[in-house]
Amino acid sequence: MKFFVIGGAGYIGSHFVKEASRQGHQCYVYDNLSAGHRESIADCQEFIKGDVRRAVPLANALDAIKPDAVFHYAANALVAESVEKPALYYDNNVIGTKTLLEVLMRRKEKPTLVFSSSCAVYGTPKSLPIEESTLLRPMSPYGRTKLICEFMIDDFCRAYKLKALALRYFNACGADLSGEIGESHSPETHLIANILLKTKNGESVSIFGNNYPTKDGTCVRDYIHVTDLADAHMKAAIFLQNQEDGYFHAVNLGSGIGYSNLQILEEVEHVTGVNVKYQFVDARDGDPAELYAVNNKATDMLGFNPQHSNLRNIIKTAWAWHQNPRY
Ligand code: NAD
Ligand code: UFG
Repeated sequence: MKFFVIGGAGYIGSHFVKEASRQGHQCYVYDNLSAGHRESIADCQEFIKGDVRRAVPLANALDAIKPDAVFHYAANALVAESVEKPALYYDNNVIGTKTLLEVLMRRKEKPTLVFSSSCAVYGTPKSLPIEESTLLRPMSPYGRTKLICEFMIDDFCRAYKLKALALRYFNACGADLSGEIGESHSPETHLIANILLKTKNGESVSIFGNNYPTKDGTCVRDYIHVTDLADAHMKAAIFLQNQEDGYFHAVNLGSGIGYSNLQILEEVEHVTGVNVKYQFVDARDGDPAELYAVNNKATDMLGFNPQHSNLRNIIKTAWAWHQNPRY
């Protein structure tokens, strides 16, 4: 299939491009490189530098390529930053998605849409694990922008005969098995990447909060390998081909297991053989205590079957990348 990958030069998008190319699909990447890396998408058919908020160049690129499916990864995606800078998040995430939807609705041949949503749409759930029917009460501006995008996509699908899935990822992590691409954010704020970088440099990691109502007082998250996310996106695009116009659903993508921040530290020590230095600091704004998924909908609907997401493999692949990062 022909895929148009907005935000494809970022961490999750580039792993999608790698896996989709391996599986024989053609990827056209559209990215403004505000956070992405051109080096991470050597396998793409074509790279177009562009901003999703600019309708004319976006429409022109879609006219030239005529993709079967569009994947919308482009966003600002940090919970704590969104509390400090909500304007940035509403602009890039909400206006970006609205612009894309307006461009898609005007097309005669409408590609299907796979949207990168987040478990941040749930906020602090009343019960665990989290199902798609769990109440949506995002507690950060980031989570709210993702939920607004989901509502917009649902409404546009009904009114303008689009078809879409919103995939609510839990915590993306790990690196491609080739060692050629991996996670490289500046600054790096994600837990596993941060612990590995600090450990490599002999520095101490700050753990945000140790007074949460969880098994050991630190936050609990559900870690899903990026290559499993990539595979789920391809399954989503294939699934959408056979759906009626107007179709929209939101689907969780996690591993189904919750690990505390201290459990992650211990597993890093096990994999690397290095003692991880750390200290507890104040809890971070916008962080829910505990999040982990029920994946039944993704399994039943898409045939989602994570192959890479056991924690040891996640940390091994991420550690291999951080030993020898190419960008
Ligand atoms: P990332 O920052 O690594 O990648 C985002 C990419 O989008 C970058 O290449 C950036 O240059 C590009 N981009 C940003 N704004 C753009 C714009 N206006 N026009 C064109 N390109 C633009 O982020 P990521 O971790 O790969 O996340 C990808 C998506 O997945 C985001 O939508 C994020 O909200 C979602 N998500 C991520 C996680 C996670 O754990 N990383 C979890 C849940 C959901
Ligand atoms: N954490 C630390 N120290 C660090 C980094 C993180 O203690 O140096 C803690 C956080 O407080 C949190 C946990 O580790 O308790 C995970 O934090 P991350 O920053 O790795 O990830 P988040 O859960 O905040 O958010 C990530 C993505 C979002 C996505 C979300 C889904 O950044 O885009 O996962 O849960 F929506």
